[in-house]
Amino acid sequence: MQDGQQDNANTGRSVLVTGGNRGIGLAIATAFAEAGDKVAITYRSGEVPEGLLGVKADVTDSASIDAAFTEVEQQHGPVEVLVANAGINRDTLLLRMSEDDFADVLDTNLTGAFRVIKRASKGMIRLKRGRVVLVSSVVGLYGSPGQINYAASKSGMVGMARSLTRELGSRGITANVVAPGFINTEMTAELPEETQKNYLSSIPAGRFAETDEVAKVIRWVASDEAAYISGAVIPVDGGLGMGH
Ligand SMILES: NC(=O)c1ccc[n+]([C@@H]2O[C@H](COP(=O)([O-])OP(=O)(O)OC[C@H]3O[C@@H](n4cnc5c(N)ncnc54)[C@H](OP(=O)(O)O)[C@@H]3O)[C@@H](O)[C@H]2O)c1
Repeated sequence: MQDGQQDNANTGRSVLVTGGNRGIGLAIATAFAEAGDKVAITYRSGEVPEGLLGVKADVTDSASIDAAFTEVEQQHGPVEVLVANAGINRDTLLLRMSEDDFADVLDTNLTGAFRVIKRASKGMIRLKRGRVVLVSSVVGLYGSPGQINYAASKSGMVGMARSLTRELGSRGITANVVAPGFINTEMTAELPEETQKNYLSSIPAGRFAETDEVAKVIRWVASDEAAYISGAVIPVDGGLGMGH
């Protein structure tokens, strides 16, 4: 492939980021937009950040996902890069965890990813190319007390990406998992100082990451340069989970 062709393949694509209205999702959406892609985000309420196409969708509701994809397809063309980022946590110790706490987290994080991937795959198969990136967590394979539901949902993404790779890998479609560690967000800022210190002492890098450090890895794994990477789990965790 000529250099020029590569550039074309990497810009102006139709990108969809679920939960792209804030936090890590917004950093991901911004990174793709800065590189010249046409970026849509799903949101449930509030404002759509400037420069992005906002489509209302709840990942627990297939009909809303279908409507959101239809709108993105009309405005930007079929989704070529899908980032399944929307996620929730409902942390509590096992004995206090209700079945609803477990099922709701699985429904949003894992079944939600399944719903959007299924909807996106039709267009990708027709295009004969596509990039699926699932935003997991270091916790998925490291484990964490109080996060049995969350860890199960995040490790499930690995089997999902690998099965997708085996199903659709021959059609120019890759599926990868990006597993962030501790990221500087509102959530981590609210942790007590002592808890932050404990976490920091176990991270070889000795710091939390910024959201754009996750975003840039995702943008790269969705680029042409990473065309031969699929079914991988890519950590962005400062070494916290190494050995997974
Ligand atoms: N922060 C960290 O340190 C960290 C570490 C590892 C992995 N992660 C993962 O990274 C992803 C983003 O995390 P974050 O820290 O940026 O979280 P966040 O600030 O809480 O944002 C979560 C996003 O998901 C959306 N969302 C939640 N439930 C949804 C649903 N049912 N349908 C559609 N959208 C929904 C939210 O939309 P609304 O605004 O509408 O609520 C929001 O845009 C998550 O998957 C999280 O598990 C985060």
